[in-house]
This record gives sequence, structure tokens and C-alpha cells, in this order.
Amino acid sequence: MAIDLDRIGRASLRELGDIRIDDVLSFIDRGIEKMPSYMDLYRRWESQQWAVGDIDFSLDRQDWLEANDIERKATLWSHRLFFNGEERVTSTLAPFVWASPTPEIEVFLSTQMVDEARHTVFFERWWREVAGTDARDMTQLLKEIRPEANEGYNILFYDRLSMPSSRASPFITSSSRRPSPSRASASSSSPCASRA
Ligand SMILES: [Fe+2]
Repeated sequence: MAIDLDRIGRASLRELGDIRIDDVLSFIDRGIEKMPSYMDLYRRWESQQWAVGDIDFSLDRQDWLEANDIERKATLWSHRLFFNGEERVTSTLAPFVWASPTPEIEVFLSTQMVDEARHTVFFERWWREVAGTDARDMTQLLKEIRPEANEGYNILFYDRLSMPSSRASPFITSSSRRPSPSRASASSSSPCASRA
């Protein structure tokens, strides 16, 4: 039976669950030969939305309560790396959006930034509802769970990752923290401002 590749491209996240993985792989192969446009990617993003708030963590909580110490330790370690990584990527994507050479790229990159923020929120919710924490906000939680990894991890996530981001942005010079909105909106050199 012929594969309806266009149907796969238009499928919602729920519909994707009913599509054979081989057909999805054929769709991906076609994408390699015939790259989708930035607006195609944007439209696909729009049709494949999901919400952190819709996820039921009750089974994860049950698994957590039944896990032994080694399993909990291993889960916490991998989740610390993931949570921290998602927040780091969210933090450093904004300058790439500002530096986009076309509105189409800017729109597509914005969706990527939202996705990374959503992944960050996912892990915050997992911490509160599965592992448990008394942290008053995400800032404190991220500080508490920051992995004590090797020096390479720190260099990659706290120095290197922010470097290209800093170069892409005229506003950030020494860290990956976002600039104040007033500073960004006041500058006529912002790609966003120049197109507004
Ligand atoms: Fe992510």
C-alpha cells in the first residue's frame, strides 16, 4: 500500500501514535532528500502541540515509591543532567532568534526555544510530583539539583554553550543570562526591532 507521506507531515501528535514507524522513517528519509521549509517546520510544530500540564505523573510517583536506593540514585542523576541541560539550552537560544537572518528562521527558532522551555518545565513538574522537593521556585530547585559533574560538563554547559550565543547577540557579553527587556527593546540594532 502506498504511503501517504503528506498525511504524516500533517499528523497531530495523537495521530502520530497510530502511524507505523516504518512510514515515519520513510517520511524522514524524504525530508533528507527534500528539506522542508522553515514555515513547513513551523506548521508541523503547531499541529503537534502537547502540554506539560496534561501529563499524569501518578504512575511515575508510584514507581518512585517502590524503587530501591540505587534505582532512585540513578534516576536522580540522569534527571539532574537532563533538567539542567534543558534549562541551559533554553537560556542560550534567545540570541540565535534575535540573530536570525529572515523572519521565517526567526519564527522557526522561536518554536525551538518554546520547546526547550517546555522540557524544562516538564522536569520541574517531575521533581515536585515524583521525587519531591521543598524548593520555593525553579531558581532554587535548579541550584539544588545542579549536577556535580566533571569539569568537562561545567565547561560545556556553563562556558562553551553560552559563547556562540554571546557572539550572536550584541546584548550579552560575559554570561548566558538574558538581557533586560528594556535594553533589548531600546536598541535599533536588534533584528527583531529592525523588522518590527
Ligand atoms: Fe530539550
